[in-house]
Amino acid sequence: MYTSYFKGLGFYVPDNVVTNDDLSKIIDTSDEWIQERTGIKERRHVIPGSEDSTTSMGLKAAKIALENSGLDKDEIDLIVFATLSPDMYFPGPGVYIQKELGLRNVGAIDVRAQCSGFVYATSIADQFIKTGMYKNVLIIASELQSKGLDMTTRGRGISVIFGDGAGAAIIGRSEDLNTGILSSHLHSEGEHAEALSMTAPGLGSRWVTDILKDNDPEDISYYPYMNGTFVFKNAVVRFAEVINEGLKTNNLQASDIDLLIPHQANLRIAQFIQKKFRLSDDQVYNNIMYYGNTTAASIPIALAEAHQKGLIKKGDLVVLAAFGSGFTWGSVIIRW
Ligand code: ACO
Repeated sequence: MYTSYFKGLGFYVPDNVVTNDDLSKIIDTSDEWIQERTGIKERRHVIPGSEDSTTSMGLKAAKIALENSGLDKDEIDLIVFATLSPDMYFPGPGVYIQKELGLRNVGAIDVRAQCSGFVYATSIADQFIKTGMYKNVLIIASELQSKGLDMTTRGRGISVIFGDGAGAAIIGRSEDLNTGILSSHLHSEGEHAEALSMTAPGLGSRWVTDILKDNDPEDISYYPYMNGTFVFKNAVVRFAEVINEGLKTNNLQASDIDLLIPHQANLRIAQFIQKKFRLSDDQVYNNIMYYGNTTAASIPIALAEAHQKGLIKKGDLVVLAAFGSGFTWGSVIIRW
């Protein structure tokens, strides 16, 4: 019997800091509105024209995670890459990681679970390791969202929220069954798929050639859409459910949590969950103030940053929880 554990972590964010005041120069918004509704003070956007891409940011995070794990690249058995903003329609970025890191011809799985992508990727890695099939899995979540947002007042309800960045982890095999990933829990509800979505381009809806042919300035189908209030209401319920599910599975209480790392959707959502579980400020890690919502990348960025700051010690109970487009949601319970 094996268990899996976080053997190395890494994250990368572009240097370019975009403050709320910067946005208010191009969009009718304000620092006060954004901070009050979302908690966000600033986010990172790749510099337009720079070489940063979803794959290259993921690669940078992966190199750091690999170095921190102490492994040789030839010891990686599988790549799992989560993103909602791939550089190409196909293939997904996973294969480019194989190439750029110079890995053996290991498998590369691309995960499309949006904000829950890292939780899904962790669960996938965990299953491959627990069954004994693989020893070390590289998981990456990276998002380049700034290039695809409607940076006009029309898109202000959503464009102020998202940022760019990447996080990565090496999930390794251990025989100490009392530590590592204790359980993971994945869910979806496709009924609300369009409440948080980008419907084009898609071969089942409007493909790139249709969009180009129509050349319609009012067409917003290739920008993300969010029914914010509906997402908020569902998020707070599902976050709570899936954290409880993880705790119950392991006979744990909320008070046992040393660090909850929620997907950085919105500070108001995280604060709601914190209050619901009666957690102190020290028990919840948030960094949305500085990076915005980086969808799939938000949990690994926060996890790597919290670990770097020394906030996670051996033996700690760390809980990852996510909710996002799909809807998808999930949690991972870890004894560090
Ligand atoms: N700046 C200034 N005014 C704005 C902005 C902005 N950036 N965006 C919208 N407004 C205006 C609207 O036009 C509207 O004006 P009106 O009343 O004159 O029509 C007013 O502010 C209120 O708009 P709402 O969309 O109702 O704003 P709301 O108070 O619901 O806040 C928000 C929007 C922050 C997105 C909220 O719905 C929310 O917290 N949703 C949770 C979902 C979320 O955070 N998702 C994050 C990504 S999804 C994920 O990761 C799971």
